[in-house]
Amino acid sequence: MLRVETAKIQSLVDRHGGDKKALIAILQDIQEEHNYLPRDCLKQVAKALKIPLIDVIGVATFYRAFSLTPRGKHTCTVCLGTACHVRGGPKILDEFERQLKVKPGQTTKDGQFTLDTVACLGCCAIGPVVVVDKDYHAHTTMREVVPILKKYKK
Ligand code: FES
Repeated sequence: MLRVETAKIQSLVDRHGGDKKALIAILQDIQEEHNYLPRDCLKQVAKALKIPLIDVIGVATFYRAFSLTPRGKHTCTVCLGTACHVRGGPKILDEFERQLKVKPGQTTKDGQFTLDTVACLGCCAIGPVVVVDKDYHAHTTMREVVPILKKYKK
């Protein structure tokens, strides 16, 4: 298993020309495949690029798009920026927490959903806004939370 992973990482690094400047692109590919950055993969990337592991971890922790812990198959992001806040964003978040039984930053036990919050998505006029994966849900109400979740759950 580990040997296969090592070969895959090496092949991924080779695909990016073995270039240290491609570190972010390499991490994006790993994140896309695993939905997070497994520590073993980071070690192998560091080895393949001949850079210290601490530098790889530094990049992996700097960007919000990367996660060092397993994430759900789907990510529900509730906007809590000012415009969404005054239109009920916190109540929407409460309902997601109640339905999913997790707090922001956590992933459901079945691995289906990770709950997140964001300060503003830049589309305040359609708030409160919830984003599931890449789908924007405008003018979200508490009653829509369950149907939204059902749409993404297998
Ligand atoms: S405050 Fe929610 S999109 Fe701007």
